[in-house]
Amino acid sequence: MHSVLSSTEQSLFSSFGVHWSELEKLPRLVCEMASQNGTAADPRSEFVGVYAKLKSELLNDSAFEFTPDSRQWVQRMLEYNVPGGKLNRGLSVIDSYKLLKEGKELAENEIFLASVLGWCIEWLQAYFLILDDIMDNSHTRRGQPCWFRVPKVGIIAINDGILLRNHIPRILKNHFKDKPYYVDLLDLFNEVEFQTTCGQMIDLITTIEGEKDLSKYSLLLHQRIVQYKTAYYSFYLPVACALLMVGEKLENHVDVKSILIDMGIYFQVQDDYLDCFGDPEKIGKIGTDIEDFKCSWLVAKALEHCDEEQKKMLYEHYGKQDPASVAQVKAIYNELNLQGIFNEYESKIYEKLKSSIEAHPSKAMQAVLKSFLGKIYKRLK
Ligand code: IPE
Ligand code: MN
Ligand code: MN
Repeated sequence: MHSVLSSTEQSLFSSFGVHWSELEKLPRLVCEMASQNGTAADPRSEFVGVYAKLKSELLNDSAFEFTPDSRQWVQRMLEYNVPGGKLNRGLSVIDSYKLLKEGKELAENEIFLASVLGWCIEWLQAYFLILDDIMDNSHTRRGQPCWFRVPKVGIIAINDGILLRNHIPRILKNHFKDKPYYVDLLDLFNEVEFQTTCGQMIDLITTIEGEKDLSKYSLLLHQRIVQYKTAYYSFYLPVACALLMVGEKLENHVDVKSILIDMGIYFQVQDDYLDCFGDPEKIGKIGTDIEDFKCSWLVAKALEHCDEEQKKMLYEHYGKQDPASVAQVKAIYNELNLQGIFNEYESKIYEKLKSSIEAHPSKAMQAVLKSFLGKIYKRLK
């Protein structure tokens, strides 16, 4: 890891017993301290405080007679899987809600409710990721072993995923039952979950053992997979939640939806790129797309640019566990300068998204969309 600090600064930190590489963890530590003291230092720590409340409600859910053991299992499972990510999806509900209110006075309770919806998306994400890591045979997630790889967890992780999924309607019932948009909210989460699950299905059935055939892979198939598996829940869902909270009907915002879906596709192209070229320390996971025969943006692009000889090599080595095969595939990606091709794609899509956003009639909505784009442009994690 390269330090951003000068050697003087580094030695200053070590004189306090802190290694500079620990620095990155500092903001989270400060947030945790602040939320424990009840003095919310920033929106993020306030958001984490809402998580603690939701967790405690779920651990005392009267529909189930918890024993100390079962309560402790759920507690540990939540702690391990729900709050440890970037929290971008969850926080963006609050950001979007504030922007859509356009400077109108906000009741404290409304920020709390936007935070609850943000956490519902984080819960949904945790549920998808637990099952995704099993299906993708992954090793690490958010800088720690995947939940199913934790000793004594194993395939119990499947039920834990289902439990997380079941927590969402319970949270919604606890906090939104009397809202006029309650049914719309439930319907939204159901629709988006269905679309994501179908996306996961088409991602997985292209990799069936014995039917591995690179000739079926294309950018069009890639786009279809990632639109469903990623874009709806990661980009459309947070804004749709905020829109429902400000009393809007979702069918009146199809233009916004389409921009968010395009942004979600771009986000997953980045995910595919980082799977191969990212720093595992930064992204918190080790890529498995090549081994898993995934219809990744990289392989679809490679197939578009390669010559006959490179194509033969890709057909031979793509989708094999053995590290030498993975290295062969990466060597072809480098020969084809896929990093350069990705950078070009990223600049182009950024400009394209920026101009669709600027063409939108509402300034408040422009701000919402720009904030999303700003958060993901050239991301390294
Ligand atoms: C995950 O897609 C999509 C969902 C969790 C719904 P990937 O399998 O490509 O994502 P990572 O790289 O494991 O995070
Ligand atoms: Mn995965
Ligand atoms: Mn996957």
